[in-house]
Amino acid sequence: MTETIAVDRPAPRVAQITLTRPQALNALNLRTMRELTEAAADLDRSEDVGAIVLTGSDRAFAAGADIKEMAPRTYSEMHAEDWFAGWDALTRVRTPLIAAVAGHALGGGCELAMMCDLLLAADTARFGQPEITLGVIPGMGGSQRLTRAIGKAKAMDLILTGRTMKADEAERAGLVSRVVPAADLLTEAVAVASKIGSMSFVAATTAKEAVNRVFESTLAEGVLFERRVFHALFATHDQKEGMAAFVEKRSPEFNHA
Ligand code: HXC
Repeated sequence: MTETIAVDRPAPRVAQITLTRPQALNALNLRTMRELTEAAADLDRSEDVGAIVLTGSDRAFAAGADIKEMAPRTYSEMHAEDWFAGWDALTRVRTPLIAAVAGHALGGGCELAMMCDLLLAADTARFGQPEITLGVIPGMGGSQRLTRAIGKAKAMDLILTGRTMKADEAERAGLVSRVVPAADLLTEAVAVASKIGSMSFVAATTAKEAVNRVFESTLAEGVLFERRVFHALFATHDQKEGMAAFVEKRSPEFNHA
């Protein structure tokens, strides 16, 4: 039984994970980390899930790592437990992950959203890395992923001043794919997830791997990786079906597995 998240199936081939600690603005504690990474791994193994939406509440996607849980820890404890390392499990999820963000996405909340593949924001969303105001720095990848997403100038501005960024600025900066009215956020996120889920699963997961390769390789290595996995897709049913359907002017019937 989960306490800090809820898992639903809002549409065919779509799963939704909702953070459910609204009283703490969805602050991310160790239990959330365990429940969320386990749920995502389970859904990743499920053949009838083609995309996963991760969301919070109207007021907060997540207002950061749980400060009350962290506050008394010593350096030795943080180091011994390799605090936050468990979140890396999310980056091993192959199914596309869509963050649907309303309200605060601060500190670990912003970092969690950035671990997803696509980020949709409500017009109420606020992004930031305010750790500096607590005497620390981002610890779940924020200094790295935010800089890759929006560049050094804005990342330094946010991380050194702790200021927050509204949804429109986040979209202009390239952190967010789309901004939608708050009332439409989940409908839009589920529609995007359904669209992705309707695609060939092997093509979608391979596309995700190819894009993410950008962050781990040189241009030449990345282009070679892309070309080789593009070639490999010609071994799949879905390539034969997708191209035959185009020629025959009909909708493709992908395998999804
Ligand atoms: C624990 C939190 C929390 C958090 C909010 N709460 N954020 N509890 N950890 N990160 C709790 C509050 O204590 C309060 O509980 C309840 O949620 C409602 O919050 P309020 O502050 O009363 O709400 P509001 O006045 O609307 O202000 C919202 C807010 C503010 C601006 C988002 O809560 C805030 O500044 N939160 C902290 C944001 C932050 O610094 N995040 C980064 C965390 S560090 P009670 O019991 O009083 O009602 C982080 C680190 C990553 O993520 C790695 C490096 C360490």
